[in-house]
Amino acid sequence: MPAFKEINPSEIKENPFDLIGKDWALVTCGSKDKFNTMTVSWGGVGIMWGRPVAFTFIRPQRYTFEFTENNEYYTMSFFDERYRGALSFCGSKSGRDYNKPKETGLTSVFTDDGVPYFEEAKLVLVCKKLYAQFLNEECVVDADKVKKWYDNDYHKMYVGEIVKVLKK
Ligand SMILES: Cc1cc2nc3c(=O)[nH]c(=O)nc-3n(C[C@H](O)[C@H](O)[C@H](O)COP(=O)(O)O)c2cc1C
Repeated sequence: MPAFKEINPSEIKENPFDLIGKDWALVTCGSKDKFNTMTVSWGGVGIMWGRPVAFTFIRPQRYTFEFTENNEYYTMSFFDERYRGALSFCGSKSGRDYNKPKETGLTSVFTDDGVPYFEEAKLVLVCKKLYAQFLNEECVVDADKVKKWYDNDYHKMYVGEIVKVLKK
């Protein structure tokens, strides 16, 4: 498998609308001893507080939420189309019930700081949490478009500084 090389966020050539919205990503968080991963297709990348950031939205009922709440770092791993099945699995089953790497065949690897990501990814964003806040009903502006997505389970938004980008 080709090795990752580190690039700058501004060198990412992929279109973020396709990368996140169509291709999907795995958000992975925890330590070598205990981590979890789940699929996301909402979120974004950009600049905040003068830094490159990823915006990640996780509902409180996800097992992954326990990890994003209790760890400083998380990763977003992006894959080729052939891993769609693995991402579907990680987006429909919970780490409470399944060992997702074992079930999907994805290989967990860790940054020098012990942050988990996947060897099979083509692009990985290593994110360090800067800000986290629950979305809430009082702040909804266009109820028709937003409220239908919720049943008292508003996402928590994480703004993570992209501290490393790994690309194959
Ligand atoms: C394509 C796709 C995109 C998803 N995007 C999100 C998302 O952005 N935020 C979220 O909280 N859940 C999202 N989910 C749902 C979680 O991935 C799913 O509930 C998963 O089973 C949670 O796993 P966990 O309990 O191990 O954390 C998505 C699922 C799929 C299939």
